[in-house]
Amino acid sequence: MDANRVVVRVPGTSANCGPGFDCLGLAATIYNDLDLTLLEEETLTIEATGDGAETIPTDDKNIVWRAARMVIERSGNGDKFKGGILRMENRVPMSRGLGSSAAAIVAGLFAANEVLGKPFTRNDILKFATEIEGHPDNVAPAIFGGFTVSTVDHRGQVQTFSFLPKIKLKLVVAVPDFPLSTRIARQVLPKTVPLKDAVFNVGRASMLIAALINGKEKFLAGAFDDALHQPYRTKLVPGMQEVFSAGKKAGALGVCLSGAGPCVIAFSAADKRLENNIAVEMVQAFKRYDVQAGALILDLDTRGALVIG
Ligand code: HSE
Repeated sequence: MDANRVVVRVPGTSANCGPGFDCLGLAATIYNDLDLTLLEEETLTIEATGDGAETIPTDDKNIVWRAARMVIERSGNGDKFKGGILRMENRVPMSRGLGSSAAAIVAGLFAANEVLGKPFTRNDILKFATEIEGHPDNVAPAIFGGFTVSTVDHRGQVQTFSFLPKIKLKLVVAVPDFPLSTRIARQVLPKTVPLKDAVFNVGRASMLIAALINGKEKFLAGAFDDALHQPYRTKLVPGMQEVFSAGKKAGALGVCLSGAGPCVIAFSAADKRLENNIAVEMVQAFKRYDVQAGALILDLDTRGALVIG
């Protein structure tokens, strides 16, 4: 392969995981691939296949290229590499709450860093990705894999702890046929929240992490619930609460919005009949609200972004 070329694979992600608004995330076994060649000439070729390919900008506004440029410039290679060839194969549904924009950003940063001989660490890439995305909860699992807990301090320093739960969870995702922009889904949130709602979430987020790390399934009951963002987003996702109830009734350990939605993610014990039943019941519940939805049954991705060629 050309010395200035690399192929990388980045997982889709689910942020918030219920109570961990802007802090918790997980990587899932659904991937976007990026084949990147850096060029000295100032020419740009961008090709995409797969989900939402027709809507992806093919000029220098492209988010993958903008992310790659960030690494090129910050590593002092801005004068050397002015152009590129980007070929993307996208499987992560776009604007559905499965981290398509985080996957794009991480792919650009990670691939450019590889081509340039790794001037930056994964933690540097986390910092750059958070700068672009605005919050770390999708980009962190896209980089590190697993479940992630991320914090940002008052100076904008990001810290991520990635771990693999002791409980084997399947991720059952109902994917509605309409997109929802994160910008709009954030506009409906209040600027301040009641103390009791903050306490509700602190308790559940803490319980969720403790239960996952220690393999205590019984403490997961209620641990995916949220009072900080989902109640305000109900109006943007028709049938959301009923889809939650349908997933729980079918045997899910917990159900929540995936990121800002509109996908709904259920956490299930690994059992094919149970997983399928949860998927069918959630899709049916969406249908009762005139929302067509498909279903994905995924595992936790354990590796994060990686080079595949
Ligand atoms: N934490 C983010 C939100 C995830 O809920 O708005 C979506 O990018």
